[in-house]
Amino acid sequence: MIRPIVKFGDQVLHREAAKVTDISADIAALVQDMIETMYAAPGVGLAAPQIGVPLRVFVVDVTGGRSRDSLLAFINPEFVEREGMQLEEEGCLSVPGFNATVARPSRAAVKGIDLEGRERTVEGTGLLARAFQHEMDHLDGRVFVDRLRGIQRDLIVRRIRKLTRSGKWS
Ligand code: NI
Repeated sequence: MIRPIVKFGDQVLHREAAKVTDISADIAALVQDMIETMYAAPGVGLAAPQIGVPLRVFVVDVTGGRSRDSLLAFINPEFVEREGMQLEEEGCLSVPGFNATVARPSRAAVKGIDLEGRERTVEGTGLLARAFQHEMDHLDGRVFVDRLRGIQRDLIVRRIRKLTRSGKWS
């Protein structure tokens, strides 16, 4: 089931998400919904808080569904390695219409539980490393806008406030 994506300003996006304590059928259904929602958007990654669920779960497919082999789902993910730095433009399904250049690691390895309940470690470079960091940030209540500095961040936040006031941000 495709779920509505919440936007920047919704409190669920600005709070730390909780660990999943039980890999149940509910979690499997949640992950399926997240995959459908990500592909429908379309996007290359989605974290559970983005559909209003404050749990540490994310899905990523840097091919956007062109190669389903590259679909990854992580429950309770954590970084086991991060190194280097890349600067690329990035956006977020919860901040539609805005992009900014964000510094991210150029290589990152994430360890978490997959849908079969197995522990899995995946290493990514380039876009995948960026996506890992972007989605992990969501689980910590951080959106890419929060990674920007002073004036750049203020500008986006001000524009979003304006859109919110005029009823164009919901
Ligand atoms: Ni995002």
